[in-house]
Amino acid sequence: MCGIVGYVGSRSVSECLLEGLHRLEYRGYDSAGIAVISDGEISVRKKAGRVMELARLVEEQPLFGNIGIGHTRWATHGETTDANSHPHLGGNGEVVIVHNGVIENHDSLRNQLIALGYVFHSQTDTEVAAHLMAHHLSEQLKLNSDEPCVDTCLRAVNLTLDRLKGTYGICVMFRDCPDTIIAARSGSPLVIGVGKNEYFLASDSSPLIGCTQDVVYLADNEVVVLNATGMKIAHRTTGRVQPSIQTLDQVSADIDLGNYPHYMLKEIFEQPTSVENAMRGRLDEGEATAVIGGLNLTAQQLRTFDRVVLTACGTSWHAGLVGEYLLEEFARLPTEVEYASELRYRNPPISDRTLVFSITQSGETADTLAAMRECQRKGHPTLSICNVVGSTIAREADGGIYLHAGPEIGVASTKAFTSQVTVLSLLALYLGRMRHLSYPAGKRIIKQLREMPEKIEEALKCHERVQEISEKYAHFNNFLYLGRLYNFPVALEGALKLKEISYIHAEGYPAAEMKHGPIALVDEQTPSVFIVPKGGIQPKVISNMEEVKARRGPVIALACEGDKEVERIADDVIIVPDVEEYLQPLVCAIPLQLLSYHIALLRGCNVDRPRNLAKSVTVE
Ligand code: M6R
Repeated sequence: MCGIVGYVGSRSVSECLLEGLHRLEYRGYDSAGIAVISDGEISVRKKAGRVMELARLVEEQPLFGNIGIGHTRWATHGETTDANSHPHLGGNGEVVIVHNGVIENHDSLRNQLIALGYVFHSQTDTEVAAHLMAHHLSEQLKLNSDEPCVDTCLRAVNLTLDRLKGTYGICVMFRDCPDTIIAARSGSPLVIGVGKNEYFLASDSSPLIGCTQDVVYLADNEVVVLNATGMKIAHRTTGRVQPSIQTLDQVSADIDLGNYPHYMLKEIFEQPTSVENAMRGRLDEGEATAVIGGLNLTAQQLRTFDRVVLTACGTSWHAGLVGEYLLEEFARLPTEVEYASELRYRNPPISDRTLVFSITQSGETADTLAAMRECQRKGHPTLSICNVVGSTIAREADGGIYLHAGPEIGVASTKAFTSQVTVLSLLALYLGRMRHLSYPAGKRIIKQLREMPEKIEEALKCHERVQEISEKYAHFNNFLYLGRLYNFPVALEGALKLKEISYIHAEGYPAAEMKHGPIALVDEQTPSVFIVPKGGIQPKVISNMEEVKARRGPVIALACEGDKEVERIADDVIIVPDVEEYLQPLVCAIPLQLLSYHIALLRGCNVDRPRNLAKSVTVE
């Protein structure tokens, strides 16, 4: 939520900031702005709307200079207006800040600042921090008038941060210290890109790709002071920190659209590769098991666990549900899937023999991070299944498994889901082979997993058919998604995809639950999407389809080729490859992603940037 960039060096700062904001736009696109210092003045350009509109404004009213900060906003406090856009000036324009996070005590601070004579121009919580910085700066200048300006500014930042409750990733510039950016984090991510006589700041590494490969991930409670010739990092309580420089392994092609019109479509079509990457080097034919390094637990320790808790939000939570079925089937490990937003405030019994995993694409989701920290606080090792290398959750987890899916930029998660399911299958195989799963069973699973990239390729062949079907159904305003067993989470995921990018009401249910309530919704105006590939209880799902048809509900079915019975009942059939039941989510998710994509396009929606959403939800 919200993206921050900063730059100091010799490049033209406006271009550098705008490019960075374009790449971070998936984090929020309600408004955007930049601030630049040149000739001893802070100048701001900001605008409600997309980064593209800000770029137009900057073209009309250019800003020149070599130091600046920028922001793309996902609104929390105050509407999406120009005035509420960041950057925000403090005092009489001597301070400027951008902020990602939420300042929970903004109301009382605002009242105190108003009493001191500060004038507010926005409804945001951030402007409070800007004026507070200005206030502390003027106090410090009175007390320490002959120390270097940067020391006074740093003290003003620290005094301000001491008074903020909530979360922040924050970048600050001071008019009278025109070669310096000060940044700090608590709860919201910040990465520093280290160049030759230049430094970059960003909420994640995507703006740094192609600019530098050397990065430093700022940790909570750290503050960095940057100018073109150096950086100093300090922990706010323990003092100076020796930066640990890491190497980014992403390349520009990872974030280019190529020939695709949207990131979502690109990412859907990347799935044969991303699933293959999730498995690469992780299958051991000889031992008929998976190879999972990075858990930081020995086989002996892993054998002592008798329960698993998977915690996540949104699509990652749906992948967790598939994980529950896999872990219980392969490893006979009782598994619970908890919404991270609930787990963080509940007090569920988690014993020393419970293994906790946080599942997250971004590694920055506030609720998932808080749930993980809550478990760690109580002494439980918490591992992560995460895509973004170096993200907060990946770094704070006690161990984990990376997805290696490459950057997922479309707000609607697609390839991360199939990669999460793949990694969970590997985990289930690995833990299963330490317990009850036989060698031949392990061998069979490995063989089937190896075939998945090809099967996903085959599933993608439904693209044109899905496009056709979308035209027929795009005008409906309510949908049901129904599936059973491994395809129940797929039904939830299909419904979520449709909701988030086409703004159509959709509900996912286990097909058999339909008759306990949702069937009341069925009529000619409510299509049902049945996920009904071959499998043990397929006849039961077919009966549910009959029940919908008997009530004149239109039916779209995902089924295997040549399934006459499904063809007879359904109005429209989308063919999915025939794979083992536990791998069906990997192929059945594909047509549902495409269906939501095409319906959204037909309804004129912005598929990569759906309204009200942001890619990583870093606020509560
Ligand atoms: O980055 P995470 O996997 O932790 O994100 C969790 C959810 O916010 C995310 O899956 C969200 O539901 C997506 N927009 C779904 O497409």
